[in-house]
Amino acid sequence: MKRSRELRPLSSEHHQALLVAFQLKKGLAGHPESAGAPKDLPGLLSLARRFEEHLFRAHARAEEELLGTYLTADDMARLRAEHAELTRLVGAARTARPDALRGHLSAFADLLERHVRWEERELFPYAEDHVDEATLATIGGELEKRLVLARADGKPARR
Ligand SMILES: [Fe+2]
Repeated sequence: MKRSRELRPLSSEHHQALLVAFQLKKGLAGHPESAGAPKDLPGLLSLARRFEEHLFRAHARAEEELLGTYLTADDMARLRAEHAELTRLVGAARTARPDALRGHLSAFADLLERHVRWEERELFPYAEDHVDEATLATIGGELEKRLVLARADGKPARR
C-alpha cells in the first residue's frame, strides 16, 4: 500500500489498530494463537480500553482536525460517526455484563478493522490526491508533533 511520507504516522498507528482488532477477535474466539492477546474477558477489555485511551483518541482527533477540511462532507460525516461509535463501544463495554461485554468488544474489533481499511484504501488516497504538497507537508509536521514526538516524550495522548 503506497502512502505518502506525511501520512505515515497515521498509517503506522493503523497497523497497531489492526493488531488490536486481530487480538480481540482471536481472544474472543478462544483461539490459542492470539498474538499474545489476553484470553479472558477482563484482559480483552483492558486491551481495548488502553488502545482507546492512549492511542485512538488523539489519532481520531488528528485525522478529523488535520484532514477534515480536505474530505467530502459524506466522508467527514462517516469519519466522525465511526470514531464516535468506536469510543462509544468501549464505554459500553466498560459497564456491560459479561454476555453483553463480549458483543461490544466484538463489534468494536469489527468496526475498527473496517474503519482502518476504509481509511487506508479510500480516504487517504483521496486526501493525498486533493491536497497540494505544501499543505501535505504542514499536515505531516503536525502529525509528527501530535502522534510521534508527544508519545516519545511519554506525555499522555492529547484529548
Ligand atoms: Fe485512522
